[in-house]
Amino acid sequence: TTPLVIDTDTAQDDCVALLVGLLDPAADLRAITMVAGNVGFDQQVRNAFMTLNVAGGRSEVPVYLGCRRPLVREWVSAENVHGDGSGGLRMDQDGLDPSGEHAVDALVRMAAQSPGELSVVAIGPLTNIAAAVVKDPGFAGNVKTLYVMGGSNNGRGNITAAAEFNFYVDPEAAKAVFAAGFDITVVPWDPLTLRQAVFGQEKLDRIAALDTPLARFFTRICGPTLEFDRSVGIDGTTHPDSLTAAVLLHPELVRAASPYHVDVETAGELTRGYSAMSWGVHGLEPNARVVEEIDAEGFFEYVLELLSRETEP
Ligand code: BDR
Ligand code: CA
Repeated sequence: TTPLVIDTDTAQDDCVALLVGLLDPAADLRAITMVAGNVGFDQQVRNAFMTLNVAGGRSEVPVYLGCRRPLVREWVSAENVHGDGSGGLRMDQDGLDPSGEHAVDALVRMAAQSPGELSVVAIGPLTNIAAAVVKDPGFAGNVKTLYVMGGSNNGRGNITAAAEFNFYVDPEAAKAVFAAGFDITVVPWDPLTLRQAVFGQEKLDRIAALDTPLARFFTRICGPTLEFDRSVGIDGTTHPDSLTAAVLLHPELVRAASPYHVDVETAGELTRGYSAMSWGVHGLEPNARVVEEIDAEGFFEYVLELLSRETEP
């Protein structure tokens, strides 16, 4: 099994990524760390606990609260895309409380306890990860591998013309993380997620037909994003975060990935958070591996199998 931490701004697909960590037997989910991003911080925490609940009341997985805003900038939300991130779901959260330790301290501590063993899946703005680098210069070396959902590999953004949400919200953090010396794998927004990890109506129907508590949860939390996606011409729900966790646990889902030098724009007027992914012709040393193609059907079947399980919330 793979020991991992998921660093998340929990809404919609972040919840599905948590289900991957919680339910895949290949995963040994050591902790969930929360970072400011998609929706209000406290709502994100509620969404994470609802996910633990629906996955079978997994109170043994600690949830650590991290940075409540980006390093330098004001917080920007994606509530227009995700609503409250849970499709308005409310659930009893008795017995589920955040741990007292700050997420950045927990990340630093866990990585230092077993250097070279812990994988980190970062599916929100990179604020916590950058803060951990600042706090412990040994952090990047202690982490076995860092899987990042963020950026685009063709210059096309989802929050502005040039930027993907996670890098846009905290570009200084993202820039610092790519300079920190991690072993990094990137799952970008476009073209990868947008062309290969979208579940259209037929797939969504197959999920709904499972009629398990997990499938009902999936359909509910993905509802607002589906509406938003359709309003902008995307025919289905998008799954960047769960894909990122899945490719860490199942590298065979990756059909193509290449070394790139990745850097993030922090100064541009129209390009804040733009990810410059340089593929080698510019003489820059690679600092990351960027996923370019996945086994899209394999990924869907994987999520379908996960949601078919019977859990008792
Ligand atoms: C990223 O931003 C959020 O909306 C999603 O959870 C994902 O991590 C996609 O740009
Ligand atoms: Ca996310």
